[in-house]
Amino acid sequence: MPKEEIANLALRRSLFYPSADIYPKSPSGFFDFGPDGETIRRKIINLWRKQLVEKEEMVEIFGSQILPEAVFKASGHLQNFNDPIVQCSKCNSLHRADKLIEMHSKGIVPESLSTAELDKLIKKHSVKCPKCRGSDFATVKKFNMMMKVDIGATGDVPCYLRPETCQTIFLDFSRLYKTMRQNLPLGIAQAGKSFRNEISPRNSLIREREIGQIEVEVFFNPSKIDEVPNFAAVENYNLNLMLLGKKTSAISCKDAVKKKLFSGKLVAYYIARLQQLYEAFGIPVSKMRFRELDKDEKAFYAKETWDFEVETDLGWIELVACNYRTDYDLKSHQKESQQKLAVKEDGEEFIPHVFELSAGIDRTFYVALDLAFRKEKRGAEERIYLKLPAKIAPYLVAVFPLVKKDGLFEKAKEIFNELNSFGIDVFFDEKGSIGKRYARVDEIGVPFAITVDYDSLKDKTVTLRERDSMKQKRVKIEELPVLLWKLQADKERF
Ligand code: GLY
Repeated sequence: MPKEEIANLALRRSLFYPSADIYPKSPSGFFDFGPDGETIRRKIINLWRKQLVEKEEMVEIFGSQILPEAVFKASGHLQNFNDPIVQCSKCNSLHRADKLIEMHSKGIVPESLSTAELDKLIKKHSVKCPKCRGSDFATVKKFNMMMKVDIGATGDVPCYLRPETCQTIFLDFSRLYKTMRQNLPLGIAQAGKSFRNEISPRNSLIREREIGQIEVEVFFNPSKIDEVPNFAAVENYNLNLMLLGKKTSAISCKDAVKKKLFSGKLVAYYIARLQQLYEAFGIPVSKMRFRELDKDEKAFYAKETWDFEVETDLGWIELVACNYRTDYDLKSHQKESQQKLAVKEDGEEFIPHVFELSAGIDRTFYVALDLAFRKEKRGAEERIYLKLPAKIAPYLVAVFPLVKKDGLFEKAKEIFNELNSFGIDVFFDEKGSIGKRYARVDEIGVPFAITVDYDSLKDKTVTLRERDSMKQKRVKIEELPVLLWKLQADKERF
C-alpha cells in the first residue's frame, strides 16, 4: 500500500505517531504507539514468543538498555559502528553519504567503503544536496551511531544506550548456561529496545532512532553445527533464497544443506523457522526472500549473513538480519572482562558459536500493516479493512449491542465479560450505527464481531460476522468461547 495510506490510517486511529510532537523541535525517528497499535505490536511479539522462543525451547530475558563503555569496546561498536556523513557546504545540512550516493546512482553502496572512496563517488555521480540542490560538500567523515549517556552525579562512568539488544544476551550467556540447562544448543531471546543515532531517520517506522528488536541468539558447539535432531521437520520446506548475484529461487532446506549454501544444518533450520514465523504474521511467501550479503555488506561481527526481506510499496525492506557471529562476541567479552566464558561439554572446552535472528519489531509491524491493508469499492461506498491474521489482530472479536435499551446493552456486557474471562481478547462498542461500528473495527483488523439483538434475549443466539467476507451467521451464545478459540487457531473455518 502507498505509504500515505498507512500514514493516514496510523494517524486517524492513533496506531503510531511521532513522539513529543506538540513540541516543534522534537527529534525525528522516535515514535509512540497508541492503544490499538501497541496491542498489535505486543501480539506480534507474543506470536514470536509462542512460535519461536517457546516452541524451540529457548529462554527469554529482559536486560538493561544502558551498558558501560567496556561492553562496546569489546563488542567492536566503539571502533566500528559508524555511518559515513557528509555536510553540504552551502546549507550545512548533514546527510548519510552512502544513502545520498545510492539515491543518485540507483545502485547499492557497500557499507565498507572508505571515506575517500565515498568522496570520489560523490563527485563521480554529481551528487546534489536534497535540501538546497547545492553540489559542494565537505569531505566524508565517520560518525559513531551510539548514544552516550552520563551516569551518576559526576558523569564519570561512560555508558551508552545499547545499539543492539543482543549484547545483553552475550553478557548473560555464562550465567544462564550455568543456571538454566547447561547444555547446547541454548537459544536466548529478548524483546527490547536498542538505540542508534541515525543521521537521517526516514520512512516512518522503517528507519528509527529508538528501535524495537526481537532477537534470538542460538549458542552451539561449532563441531556440531550439522547435528540438528529436529531437522526432519523442515527438510522439505522451501526457502526463498537470493544467492549472491542471482535471482531469488525456492529451494528446500535439505537441498540447500546438500549444496552447502549455509555454514551448516543449524543455520538452515533456524532460517526455516523464521520464514514460517513470518508466514504466521500474514506475509505471503511470494513476497519474502533471504538475501545473501557479500563481505562488503555484512556487519563487522558476521561470518555469514542472510537478510530476510519483504517486498512492499517502499521496495524490499530488511526485517531480520540472520547472522552467523561465530565466537566473535563471547571471545571479545572474555578478553575484555577477563572472565571465562568458555563451556565444557563431552570433555571438550570451547567458546560457543552463535547464530542470530535479529528482527526489527516496528518494521515487522509496519510491513504487516502494509500487506494487510485493503481498500475496496462496494457500490458507492469505499471499505477499508486490515486483513491481519487473527493471532496478531488487536482483538479477536468485538461485541455490539444493537441498541442501548431494552436489556440489550446488559446482555452484550454479559457476553463481553464471559469472553474476557475465557482469555479472549474482546472489544466493546455501543456508540453509533452498527454499520459504523463494523467499519471502525474492520479498519483496525478485528476479525470477528458479535451483534446482540432482540432475538438474542429470546433464543440465546447472536450474529457473528466475519471481517473479510462480511458473512454473518447465527451462533448459540454458549458456543462462542470454543468456536472463537478454534477460529483463532485456524482449527475451524467460518
Ligand atoms: N544484532 C544485530 C543487529 O542489531 O543488527
